Amino acid sequence: MIILGIESSCDDTGAAIVTDKKEILGEALQSQEEHKQYGGVVPEIAARAHLEHVDDIISICLQRAHISLNELDAVAASAGPGLIGGVVVGVMTAKALSLALNKPFVAVNHLEAHALCARISNDVQFPYLLLLVSGGHCQILVVKNVGEYERLGTTIDDAAGEAFDKVAKMLGLGYPGGPMIEKMAAIGDDSRFALPRPLIGSGDCNLSFSGLKTAVRKIIESYTADGIVEHAILPKQDVADICACFQMTATDCLVRKLERAIKYFKQKYPDGQDLVVSGGVASNTYLRNHLKELAAKHDLDFAAPPIRFCTDNGVMVAWAGLERFRLGYTNDLDFKPRPRWPLDETAPKAPGAGGVKA
Ligand code: KG4
Ligand code: ZN
Repeated sequence: MIILGIESSCDDTGAAIVTDKKEILGEALQSQEEHKQYGGVVPEIAARAHLEHVDDIISICLQRAHISLNELDAVAASAGPGLIGGVVVGVMTAKALSLALNKPFVAVNHLEAHALCARISNDVQFPYLLLLVSGGHCQILVVKNVGEYERLGTTIDDAAGEAFDKVAKMLGLGYPGGPMIEKMAAIGDDSRFALPRPLIGSGDCNLSFSGLKTAVRKIIESYTADGIVEHAILPKQDVADICACFQMTATDCLVRKLERAIKYFKQKYPDGQDLVVSGGVASNTYLRNHLKELAAKHDLDFAAPPIRFCTDNGVMVAWAGLERFRLGYTNDLDFKPRPRWPLDETAPKAPGAGGVKA
């Protein structure tokens, strides 16, 4: 079984071809540089860039895989949630291929692509406990099966990656912020500033990063005469110390909420064996190491996609498409791309019956 997957929901245009034997036959990815100067993704620019690159990315992917379009069994695309202009580009391309080749179309939920991604490179069985941390989402979930999720907690304000990006922006570290914060944190002192851990005593698995970000803002403001963050000039070591404190505190918030989630998971799903992290922030080695320790402490196996598959890419979309397709879940060509699409609305109606309807 061979599937092409297309990703275009944010600022990465990706395509990949995977098989049910977990082989990645070919992949191609174009990360848009256009947004760097704006300190965040500009939706209109992203949509145009996807349109410009998507055909080439698919051609390169096919060349690398040494297969022709006719050898595909189905075509999948990220159909939401995401920036709708970009999502439409990937979905329209996939639908056009599906129609021309007379092969099924699979609408993939972008969050489900992150959620299932660890299964291509690791032996992760359902059910598993998942921390999904990306630029737009931050959730703790039980992945019970393809299309079956129990959400234990979510951020009530910023996503984890969003907090990394906003802190990086305040420190003048550029976009995306996560990798730069991680780099600076490695040479910083994580005990220098005490930062708050919002919602830590809330008695549930929900998270909040907004107060943490504001606390960082206050520290940076103290370096200015006029209180304008953009005017702050910080010595490099101070930037590194702020990054280290922020990364440590954000990680601690995630770990402590996961600790609570693990207790619930072990009780309700005694067969579950894995703690998995995915999404762009899962590229963070400091976070991965702490989650590895947490898993070991609770006698769980730890799994994460290889770092290059944590941020958006075509492989995760192709793989999620394959996981759905091999269960018989496909979608009609009138499927409408969804800017918002919660994971608990990914349950297929019935195998082979047209899948999820928008
Ligand atoms: O999954 P992703 O590529 O896009 C979304 O679906 O949102 O995640 C992008 C996010 C950005 O916020 C970026 O700053 C964050 O992942 N990120 C990181 C790291 N690498 C990327 N955050 C922390 N540490 C990293 N090394
Ligand atoms: Zn993503």
